Amino acid sequence: MASTRYQSVSAMDAEQRRLVVRDIFSTFHRTYDLANRVLRLRRDVAWRRFALRRMRFGPRGRFLDVATGTADLAIMAARAFPGIRVDGVDFAEPMLEIGRAKVERRGLQDRIALARADALDLPFPDASFDVSAIAFGMRNIPDMDRALREMARVTIPGGRVLVLEMSAALVPPFRAPYLFYLRKILPSMGRLVAGDDAAYVYLSESIMKHPGPESFAGTMRSAGLARVEALRLTWGAAYLHVGLAPGGSGMGS
Ligand SMILES: C[S@@+](CC[C@H](N)C(=O)[O-])C[C@H]1O[C@@H](n2cnc3c(N)ncnc32)[C@H](O)[C@@H]1O
Repeated sequence: MASTRYQSVSAMDAEQRRLVVRDIFSTFHRTYDLANRVLRLRRDVAWRRFALRRMRFGPRGRFLDVATGTADLAIMAARAFPGIRVDGVDFAEPMLEIGRAKVERRGLQDRIALARADALDLPFPDASFDVSAIAFGMRNIPDMDRALREMARVTIPGGRVLVLEMSAALVPPFRAPYLFYLRKILPSMGRLVAGDDAAYVYLSESIMKHPGPESFAGTMRSAGLARVEALRLTWGAAYLHVGLAPGGSGMGS
């Protein structure tokens, strides 16, 4: 399945994919939030809330949101944990601009800083954050090992690294209808909501190509994360993976 604008995910090399992803999120940023809510039936909000419950902060009180996009997770975290400061990074400036406007509308500009940066090269010293997370960004990053190592590096030893991601690994009765939804319905809905199916064909393909939960847990372990857990959400339409940055015993349960 290829859209008229982009090659299929499997035909692209890592650099082509990087450019396609940046192009998608730089051109369809205006409809991103609306499309997100409609197409994921608002489940994404509940999934982010679930991720917040797995975060643990110490006195340093710093959170990093990687691939922050329009800053939804950054804003939710700042509201849920009033003592923390949040950094959000993304390589698509147009998404960040929308994020900054949302942060200002909510009066959170003193606690949330958004900056342009690549997940593969985070502009922070080692052990800067109690928690780092990435929501719906990991499947867009071809070099997942490097992205995970970067998140582990900037997180304090024993601090939590969270990866929230869509999945096609649904439990059996839902698997076939969900694949039909991804292959056929999602691109057509994308055409209606965003006026273009290219981004949605990419979205569907990237979900189907993302490794299953066990395989991704293995990728996290080999990137050095400890005590990795895979938590299934909405019959497997999303997973939250949580691991501990190396060198510590973990904060809280
Ligand atoms: C589906 S959006 C998710 C945004 C947000 N985290 C959320 O929960 O809605 C994926 C984001 O990942 C960003 N992204 C993809 N690859 C990236 C990379 N290598 N470095 C930084 N950002 C990246 C895109 O620009 C886009 O804003």
